[in-house]
Amino acid sequence: MADKKRIVSGMRPTGPLHIGNLLGALENWAKMQDQYDCFFFIADWHALTSDYEDTRSIPKHIRNMMIDLLSGGLSPEKSTLFVQSHIKEHAELFLILSMLTPVSWLERNPTYKDQMAQISNKDLSAFGFLGYPVLQAADIIMYKAYGVPVGVDQVPHVEITREIARRFNHFYGKVFPEPEAILTETPKILGIDRRKMSKSYNNAIYISDSPDKIASTVAKMITDPQRARKSDPGNPDICNVFEFHKLYTDTETKDSINNECRTAAIGCVECKKIMAQNLITALEPIREKRKYYGDRPALVEDIITTGSNKARKVAQRTMEEVRAAVKI
Ligand code: TRP
Ligand code: SF4
Repeated sequence: MADKKRIVSGMRPTGPLHIGNLLGALENWAKMQDQYDCFFFIADWHALTSDYEDTRSIPKHIRNMMIDLLSGGLSPEKSTLFVQSHIKEHAELFLILSMLTPVSWLERNPTYKDQMAQISNKDLSAFGFLGYPVLQAADIIMYKAYGVPVGVDQVPHVEITREIARRFNHFYGKVFPEPEAILTETPKILGIDRRKMSKSYNNAIYISDSPDKIASTVAKMITDPQRARKSDPGNPDICNVFEFHKLYTDTETKDSINNECRTAAIGCVECKKIMAQNLITALEPIREKRKYYGDRPALVEDIITTGSNKARKVAQRTMEEVRAAVKI
């Protein structure tokens, strides 16, 4: 373990994981477990940045997210799995880092600017929302991570983390390495309405969905928008259903769908039924594990406690160094 490089990544517990999260993050994390010393956590304090007014569902989301993560292949034996708020040291480091982070860096942050421009149904004027990347920097450098597996949208936050680490080291001596973003390839699949798959668009397929639910969601998917009637030829190259076939359907069937779609020999209803069935089958092992962990809440609690205790030990050591460096 000692010679493995350490990586850290987190997810906000704002709802169940969907196929986009599975393909874009979780499957990747699961694969990285053998190669790296992995710290994966549920960023519940970060969930407050947008949802501080009503926190009632956060405990439920944390439990369900841990079940999703375990079912998607994360292993408490291989990785350190924990909940951010169980490690109070993150809050102390966040405070210290906030003292040395120029506000202009945060105001320039592209995700901040985008969300301020796009989101109108939530009040984002809070100090904590502006300081989101400072807390994220604390999460990452606390464990002296070498790398941070993230999607492209999070790269600016890792960049700010590097700048904050550099600035800390400049003032107080070298305590922190500068972490690298390890870019996760994001899947081409979209939500059922062809927008980015997202809980807030209500267009997602969740890994916890029942087979019936998956079938009915797939039935509602928008296909090739040019194909109005079954007798019209379709174009799989621009069809979201076909992107799913590329991931979940065997090559032979996929190739024949490709041809039959273009000659109108297959209709979208049938095509979707085949895809839904393959997707349901592919998610079967995850569904089974979800049931296993869902039936064992005490086990899930125990995994959270044990992982958080492991993470806390590392965090405590880092904070001793930080306090000695800062002299407070
Ligand atoms: N900001 C990340 C997201 O929304 C979640 C997150 C919080 C995170 N802290 C982190 C990711 C530290 C990587 C490392 O996806
Ligand atoms: Fe898409 Fe399949 Fe319909 Fe072709 S037949 S447009 S690939 S859903």
